[in-house]
Amino acid sequence: MDCKKKEFNLSSDVTYLNCAYMSPLMHCVEEAGIIGIQKKRQPNHISGQDFFTESDILRKEFAQLINCHKSENCVIIPSVSYGMANVAKNLKLKKGDNIIVVGEQFPSNVYPWMEVAQKAEAEIITIAPPNEIQDRGKTWNDQILKTINEKTKLVACGHIHWADGTIFDLRSIRQKTYEVDAWLAVDATQSLGAVPFDIQQLKPDALVAAGYKSLMGPYSIGMAYYGSVLSNGSPIEQSWINRFESENFSNLVNYNENYQPGALRYEVGEHSNFILVPMMLEALKKLNEWKPENIQQYLIDLVDNPISVLRNFGFKIEETKYRASNLFGIRLAEHHQMDKLKSKLLDANIIVSYRGDAIRVSPNIYNDSNDLATLVEVLTTK
Ligand SMILES: Cc1ncc(COP(=O)(O)O)c(C=O)c1O
Repeated sequence: MDCKKKEFNLSSDVTYLNCAYMSPLMHCVEEAGIIGIQKKRQPNHISGQDFFTESDILRKEFAQLINCHKSENCVIIPSVSYGMANVAKNLKLKKGDNIIVVGEQFPSNVYPWMEVAQKAEAEIITIAPPNEIQDRGKTWNDQILKTINEKTKLVACGHIHWADGTIFDLRSIRQKTYEVDAWLAVDATQSLGAVPFDIQQLKPDALVAAGYKSLMGPYSIGMAYYGSVLSNGSPIEQSWINRFESENFSNLVNYNENYQPGALRYEVGEHSNFILVPMMLEALKKLNEWKPENIQQYLIDLVDNPISVLRNFGFKIEETKYRASNLFGIRLAEHHQMDKLKSKLLDANIIVSYRGDAIRVSPNIYNDSNDLATLVEVLTTK
């Protein structure tokens, strides 16, 4: 796969290594949004069927991305917090049960569990990241697996950690949750698109992702998958469009007790957003055309050597097996000074994030080896 910089609207004087903050927009995604805005000029051209058609295509495109055979289990959501709130509302908890959350996760995959745990007098068990750098990813994963017990009702984690790209061994975690009959909720915001995800293999109960990062879409739209444990649950809102036969506009006040099939009851109200849906759809079409496994390989090839060079200069970066290539944390040696490095990166127009004690670097398919070389040069020269 070659670099896709030309497809994006990035300024050439910036080295943008910050997809984990927000991806840039592809030209085709931007155009889809503009067409969406223009459509509303003449609403007589927006038909009743239009409220359903593109949402349906978007769900199918997302289902393809995650290898899900039932697109009606995939829904449009506005945010990760919304997607997780649907899970939290349906989680059966009693006093003494526990929910396991991976430490220092993004709050949208923590606050919903805090609320329900408090109400039920259940316990939140947080698996903090290990302090030592040696075998950090392995130790962290081992601790998660060891902590899951028969009182566990849910494990909430990412596919990779949002702050430093540590990979979580979802296959083993899923296995362990099956053994104790616990749910698995995955926030894949920082990995979907750039790291392959196979619903058939990993079988989470919920997979939730914001659309504006590695999924390359606009802000305020995301996608979720809900598995069979949520099939008969109760959504956090009661939208008319999620009711059975809502396509029949003349019959809407004959209120229907039944929902649309699969997980569609959990979809956000006004899901047929005529601007964001076509944008998200264009982005996912591109990702499906390029394929996450190719994007992942492109990124592995892109960062492998620069990471080795940085390690030789004393920077600490997770070992390859437990580190993503689309997002990784660079921790400093004692002789490095964060403030100095920050101002050097700023002066060189290199855009990264700072999370915890790490410099978070998150390249994607619009980055090339020059971008990584620029980063390495600035970090390693005095
Ligand atoms: C891992 C992760 N999840 C979710 C989000 C966004 O959450 P929400 O869509 O609830 O605003 C972010 C934003 O940085 C994130 O990094």
